[in-house]
Amino acid sequence: MTLKLNRRQFIATGTAFAALGARSAAAASPELNARVADIQLLPKDYGSTRIWGFEGMAPGPEIRVMQGARVQRRLVNGLPDATSTHWHGIRIDNAMDGVAGLTQEAIAPEASFDYDFIVPDAGTYWYHAHNRSFEQVARGLHGALIVEEPDPLDIDHEEVLILDDWLIDPDTAQIAETFGAMHDLSHAGRLGNYITTNGTYNLSKPVIRHERLRLRLINAANARIFRLALDGLEGWIVALDGMPLVQPREVEGTFILAPAQRIDLIVDVIAETGSAGHIVQLDRNESFSQVAFEVTGDGAKSRRAAPGPLPPNNHAMPQLAGARDLSLLMEGGAMGGMRGAMMGRRMSSMRDMMQSGNFWAFNGSVGGMNGAPLASLSHGETVRLKITNDTVFPHAMHLHGMHFHEVEPDGSLGPLRDTTLLERGEVRDIAFVADNPGKWLLHCHMLSHAAAGMMTWIEVA
Ligand code: C2O
Ligand code: CU
Repeated sequence: MTLKLNRRQFIATGTAFAALGARSAAAASPELNARVADIQLLPKDYGSTRIWGFEGMAPGPEIRVMQGARVQRRLVNGLPDATSTHWHGIRIDNAMDGVAGLTQEAIAPEASFDYDFIVPDAGTYWYHAHNRSFEQVARGLHGALIVEEPDPLDIDHEEVLILDDWLIDPDTAQIAETFGAMHDLSHAGRLGNYITTNGTYNLSKPVIRHERLRLRLINAANARIFRLALDGLEGWIVALDGMPLVQPREVEGTFILAPAQRIDLIVDVIAETGSAGHIVQLDRNESFSQVAFEVTGDGAKSRRAAPGPLPPNNHAMPQLAGARDLSLLMEGGAMGGMRGAMMGRRMSSMRDMMQSGNFWAFNGSVGGMNGAPLASLSHGETVRLKITNDTVFPHAMHLHGMHFHEVEPDGSLGPLRDTTLLERGEVRDIAFVADNPGKWLLHCHMLSHAAAGMMTWIEVA
């Protein structure tokens, strides 16, 4: 499976590929149909690929609303498997969080479920399947959920860019049906061999020199950590995981987009007319064009001043003095040296764990939704959670229902996030005010890891 290695050849041959068709415009209908479809995911000289997609597309239709609006969608399950839909990053009513097995029953094939919720925060979010996610998201069940600020920004246009990687058998053009493979569960997760943006491997957009763009990057991959850079574009990170930074951060060198994370960039096109700017993806010692911005004409003579911050969303600031201290020790995986862990009430050896497809433990127990919560919090309580990654793999930890601050090494509050990446051996504190009642998952968004024990939940009264 060397498809990804062919990307450079594809670029070199200069073959032009059309986009996969219109994928903007949220359907006027309140139905969201999850169904099987055959799409031209690979370049045209390959056959079509069978996916599972919202409205038969991957990514699914963009849902775009104003801040404070109500989103209503009837999820109609046309898949051969039960499913549910999670609205990642939304401070949502718990009953609408879409976690099969915790906040709702999985929606059986041919059944439907009415999602109905308010979006309190502006920003870049996404939605994805949340039953057997390690399979269903990999088959294509994800899309963008964009919540607009009340006042438009001073930009020329914006692009929503959903990065994904697919594990494809190049001989058949089909998604490799190796979901839950032991190696993926126990190592870095399911990594693909075919990398796309908005379902296209070499996405290209026309721009004008000196235009200012807002780019909304979403990582929908199961496990791939994208290391990115800008070329011919000068940019600022203005929001992480939907939440505005207090001050825009100028992009210098590379930046990381871990699974489930989002980055909002404001970029100015500085490449010359006739050339192209790029979002560059760095993989080992190679770099690829993830997205090309072809400069088709000259615009304004001069550049604009650096952008100011986006308007903040309204969040309670945690006061660390007096916070409740919690800790989460992440262990296990290949080469992790873990001997065993509790599975339910029983101490199990690593070998017994492996037999049931479990490789990881949180605080000494194989995680899931059925055990006791990591913590039961009272409403409005402030929590400081120390997360220790005692494994040899990176993990992207996601909390449902509430954003948290990363706590900086000097003890100050860092950016608000809903997914934080912990490199091997890394320790990070996060802090938040538990102000959204319900049962909220806390899990690794390397989806094979979540399926193999890296999952717990908290309860807020
Ligand atoms: Cu984006 Cu529990 O998920
Ligand atoms: Cu993980």
